[in-house]
Amino acid sequence: MLKRWPTGLGIVTGLIALSFGLLCGSMPDEKWQLAARWTGRASFPLFIITFVASSLATLFPKPWTRRLLQRRRWWGLGFAACFFIHLFALCVYNWRIDNFPPTSLLSPGVLAYTLLLAMVLTSNATSQRVLGHRWKWLHRSGMWVFLLIFGRPGTSLVAIVYMLVSLAALSLRLAAWWKTRQKHPRSLSAP
Ligand code: HEM
Repeated sequence: MLKRWPTGLGIVTGLIALSFGLLCGSMPDEKWQLAARWTGRASFPLFIITFVASSLATLFPKPWTRRLLQRRRWWGLGFAACFFIHLFALCVYNWRIDNFPPTSLLSPGVLAYTLLLAMVLTSNATSQRVLGHRWKWLHRSGMWVFLLIFGRPGTSLVAIVYMLVSLAALSLRLAAWWKTRQKHPRSLSAP
């Protein structure tokens, strides 16, 4: 039970970010806009920790990276919990400003949330066993879709920070993949 604390951290972080936005805003619309903004921002570090967990364990095989990898599922579920609180806040905000639904069904945001829901529902040993290589494909492509959306180019200071941190996470992942390929040249696994 104790090893699941990163999921608890994700829920608490999302609720604090939501409350922070609702407390800081002056008018109701602004309260929910800030709540959407802060829950989106609070999800990012949780995502990055989940994204780089296996790469850190490959590049720096230490007790703390091994523990991080052992808890990767709970970090992933922590990210998901915080990010579904983002979905709640952005829906209320867009509903309040008469912009609901907030985006078309074919948008990257909806794709990301659909993948996230599938990843959450399959974050258990039974699904991993039953789905086999499709489980890896689902969880790997989901993580890359999120990295691409979080790290998309932008000009604001916040967007530049997301982009640089995402690029650093990408470099860690590629370095770990290259190290594994050096060790097992015949392995065809994707980064
Ligand atoms: C379903 C589609 C989505 C909608 C309608 C949506 C809507 C919003 C809104 C209204 C905000 C507050 C904007 C503001 O600050 O005024 C926001 C912020 C944010 N969203 Fe989303 N979002 C969606 C999906 C996503 C996805 C898929 C990601 C990342 C993978 C994401 C990451 C963020 C981040 C990081 C912020 C904070 C931006 C900042 O730091 O200024 N959102 N979103």
